[in-house]
Amino acid sequence: MTSTVSRGARRTALVTGASSGIGEAYARHLAARGYDLILVARRQDRLAKLADELARTHGVEAEALAVDLTEEAGLGKVEERIARAGDLDFLVNNAGFGTRGLFFKADVEEQDRMHRLHVLGVVRLCYAALTRMVTRGKGSVVNVSSVAAFAQSPGNASYCATKAWMNSFTEGLYLDLAAFGSPVKVQVLCPGYTLTEFHDATGIGRDHIPAGWWASAEDVVAASLRGLSRGKLFVVPGLRYRFYVFLIKVLPGFVVRSLALQIRGKVRR
Ligand SMILES: NC(=O)c1ccc[n+]([C@@H]2O[C@H](COP(=O)([O-])OP(=O)(O)OC[C@H]3O[C@@H](n4cnc5c(N)ncnc54)[C@H](OP(=O)(O)O)[C@@H]3O)[C@@H](O)[C@H]2O)c1
Repeated sequence: MTSTVSRGARRTALVTGASSGIGEAYARHLAARGYDLILVARRQDRLAKLADELARTHGVEAEALAVDLTEEAGLGKVEERIARAGDLDFLVNNAGFGTRGLFFKADVEEQDRMHRLHVLGVVRLCYAALTRMVTRGKGSVVNVSSVAAFAQSPGNASYCATKAWMNSFTEGLYLDLAAFGSPVKVQVLCPGYTLTEFHDATGIGRDHIPAGWWASAEDVVAASLRGLSRGKLFVVPGLRYRFYVFLIKVLPGFVVRSLALQIRGKVRR
């Protein structure tokens, strides 16, 4: 599909982690809606190829910004790009990764990088975008979290904790915006298992997870954008996962922890 957008009506979106998976799916959905794109991740070749394809197919402007968001210099470049965009309409904080292993057995540097990416990076980019969006009185921010935010599981302490932080932080932003009377929208997207490169990058197999628990990145992003148009703060794609989150919320904590130990135990055996 090719679409041409007049200069005056142009809108710009910045998507982190756009070189694969859910981030790439956001880039595709937003380009189809006429957004100019700033695509952020470390793999320049992937970003440049996607930017070229989306610019050709949808008649939008698309650029690749290759940075490592766990590094101060990389984060600074993205903040500077947001400042230069002036009128950023849409920010998707999606870049993320998983780790394997019990906290005290895992590589501490990797745990540190995860907190930089999922927590500090999100704080800094939300600040860079929201200070300007609030002044202009328009814009949207989506933070990509996980259903892992709702309960801890063995071998996932930092992942679950950083995603739980993301849920709480985004809810705080929502309340701040509402208290200020701002129409700027925020959402925290909490997907379940999604078919992307996430599990390959983490070195986790997919075989132990039944087929019905997997969603496509396209469907997850479609649910996010539908939720955003309805002003939904928390979006959990898929009935199965909404029921799972409901159970976690109503069951006593000791039952949830006992189930987590049983499920993880089975996975390991
Ligand atoms: N897949 C799932 O089952 C699932 C479930 C729930 C939540 N999520 C969340 O969804 C988000 C997207 O993951 P995905 O499933 O699409 O996995 P993915 O295909 O592995 O994509 C992860 C993206 O993050 C980027 N990234 C990783 N580290 C980065 C860094 N230091 N600096 C900049 N970019 C970085 C990667 O690009 P480069 O390698 O090119 O930097 C890639 O574009 C993550 O936040 C993840 O926690 C995934």
